[in-house]
Amino acid sequence: MGIHFDEKKQTFSIDTANSTYQFQVDRHGFLLHLYYGKKISGNADYLLKYLDRGFSGNPACLINDRTFSMDVLPQELPVWGSGDFRSPAFVVEKEDGTRSVDLKYVTYQIRKGKYSLPGLPAVYVSDEEATEAETLEIVLEDSVLSLEVDLLYGVLPKLDIITRAIQIKNKGADTVYLDKLMPASLDFITGDYDLITFHGRHTMERLMQRVPINHLSQRIGSRRGASSHQFNPMLIAAKPETTDSFGDCYAMEFVYSGGFQAEALKDQFGTTRVQMGLQEEGFHYPVAFGETFTSPEVILSFSRDGFDRLSHNLHDVIRQHICRGAYQYQPRPVLVNSWEGSLCNITRDSLLSLAREGKEIGLDMLVVDDGWFGNRDDDNTSLGDWYANEEKLGGSLAQLITDVNRIGLKFGIWMEPEMISEKSHLYEMHPDWALQIPGRIPIRGRNQLVLDFSRKDVRDYIYDRICDILDSGNIEYLKWDYNRSIYDVYSEGVTHQGRVLYDYMLGLYEVLEKLVNRYPHVLIEGCSGGGGRYDAGMLYYTPQIWTSDNTDPIDRMLIQYGTSFGYPASTMAAHVSKSPNEQTGRVTPIQTRVIAAMYGSFGFELDLSLLTKEEKKAAGEEVKKYHRLERLITDGRYYRLSDPAKDKFCAWSFVSRDGAEALVNAVVLKLQSNDELFYVRPKGLKPERVYKEINTGECYDSDLLMSAGLPLPKESGEHRAYQFHFILQQ
Ligand code: DGJ
Repeated sequence: MGIHFDEKKQTFSIDTANSTYQFQVDRHGFLLHLYYGKKISGNADYLLKYLDRGFSGNPACLINDRTFSMDVLPQELPVWGSGDFRSPAFVVEKEDGTRSVDLKYVTYQIRKGKYSLPGLPAVYVSDEEATEAETLEIVLEDSVLSLEVDLLYGVLPKLDIITRAIQIKNKGADTVYLDKLMPASLDFITGDYDLITFHGRHTMERLMQRVPINHLSQRIGSRRGASSHQFNPMLIAAKPETTDSFGDCYAMEFVYSGGFQAEALKDQFGTTRVQMGLQEEGFHYPVAFGETFTSPEVILSFSRDGFDRLSHNLHDVIRQHICRGAYQYQPRPVLVNSWEGSLCNITRDSLLSLAREGKEIGLDMLVVDDGWFGNRDDDNTSLGDWYANEEKLGGSLAQLITDVNRIGLKFGIWMEPEMISEKSHLYEMHPDWALQIPGRIPIRGRNQLVLDFSRKDVRDYIYDRICDILDSGNIEYLKWDYNRSIYDVYSEGVTHQGRVLYDYMLGLYEVLEKLVNRYPHVLIEGCSGGGGRYDAGMLYYTPQIWTSDNTDPIDRMLIQYGTSFGYPASTMAAHVSKSPNEQTGRVTPIQTRVIAAMYGSFGFELDLSLLTKEEKKAAGEEVKKYHRLERLITDGRYYRLSDPAKDKFCAWSFVSRDGAEALVNAVVLKLQSNDELFYVRPKGLKPERVYKEINTGECYDSDLLMSAGLPLPKESGEHRAYQFHFILQQ
């Protein structure tokens, strides 16, 4: 395992437990990609064929060799200007508008440990793990532009994880502009692949789509300034025959929360190119003499055992090497959030009564959502005025926190720090702090504007306000919300506006980094109208994210299923809400809402006084049960047991790493008269063993369970849900 350089063949091989990634320094100094897939011991350079292809030009350094063309050969970093007419990963423009890059290999370095990226979230390893992780740095150079381009590869061998990032150093006198940068670009020389992406919309995020990659460029991304509800910055390329449990598949996951793009296409000669990186439109980043630009990284993983294994690799890297802080592994508080129950209409009495009801059913925390500050009686005003509305709270925030603590609950609070309302004191004082283009009326989203986080004075002010709030009492949780897209990009005093969106993200990360360092014991939950910024970048600061503003348990099956491909259950906040549901009006039994919310970080979000006595009793029992099951849910292996877009039920399970117990869950999505029985087939149990289902006391042969399945009870009534808890028998 590890990184090797074969001097003779000038080939770099990155070996993980089950995969090999290989590229070569060609005889002309170009970097050619050779192979990524199942672990191999040989050299894949025999796959390269040098042919004279019409209209495929030859690099300038070749004299009279018509068989070498970048247009045809697989590239490690395809650049614009080399003669490769496929999608480039790197486009640079000079002041005069010329666009051309010619990168040649200079040297390399292999070192222990995983690289970090200044100012950016990235996969990290602990000191002990640093001996296993490795970094490969390849130095390339364009001698005409005097640009040094460093390709960074990080390797976590046991997890089958490779990361890629790029640093660009300008050593010449002239400023250059980066117009496109895809830190990960993979060329698969042969084979057919499917592209699996996760699209959606507000309240319906990360819906899986699978299509063949063919002679057509397929592009996903976000131009919204945030990773977005519309597409998630994560994709899978898979052989057409690949399923959850079988076949070759590759993941790309961006550790970045701003605009992104990813593209897949089959070129004219059958090579498949898949790439992921920064969103192109609006990106025109100046790099002056002496400056270095650092890209965010992309996580890559390969599985030859289907999507379950691929997801396990991603779950492990996110949970163990992206998420940080006290709550990385610590049980999360089971909370009640005030939003769906009261919206902005909160009062001291309503909050204290919610806290008391919460205490009765055994909850750990009250989260005061929107409406506690400024003149915020609805969502049209006051963002930026981060001062408690003492009239509404019937006293100071400190007093409210003390009172909630006295009831026996921890206290959490909501903020939306990146936003400003035009109806706010902050806007009266600093209208220029909002992103808006001079001479144009800005586009509003939820009647609010976005603060210019690329500016230090803005960031410092907001950071101080957040600290004042967090210092005002025993606040143990912060929900960091973000409720619109960015349209009007203009920042005072910047030489080129093409850098603003990227600098905005660096600014956001700077504030979050300062906060996690100053408040290591505060759990920060990420949120953007639910899951509009559900990405590995945010998870570096916020170990959980509000998965969706949609709390309907039936819709949540699709949302949580899609999310599960790239993100572990511990990152998914899921709450039990009222029935009929606020978003869909659908009526569902409390048991179904509870089981759907036990998919991740569990909580409640409704006026608890509306629950009947029986429902409260049941809820209390479920809270106790969740506490018993939490470890299994967050640390166990997660398996998808059905496809909720096709099947009439959604089933999933968590299996402890030692195979000693398994929690199998199923929610019936569609019911027809006299229907067939639904059989749920658990995965990941120990073979040739016996498991006991603890609620019924029934014992089952594990192989039989895994091959024939377990029938769900035949009951009438829409949207029933079931949970089976299996314990391995000695
Ligand atoms: C959007 C979030 O997703 C909701 O949970 C809630 O916090 C509202 N914002 C508050 O405005």
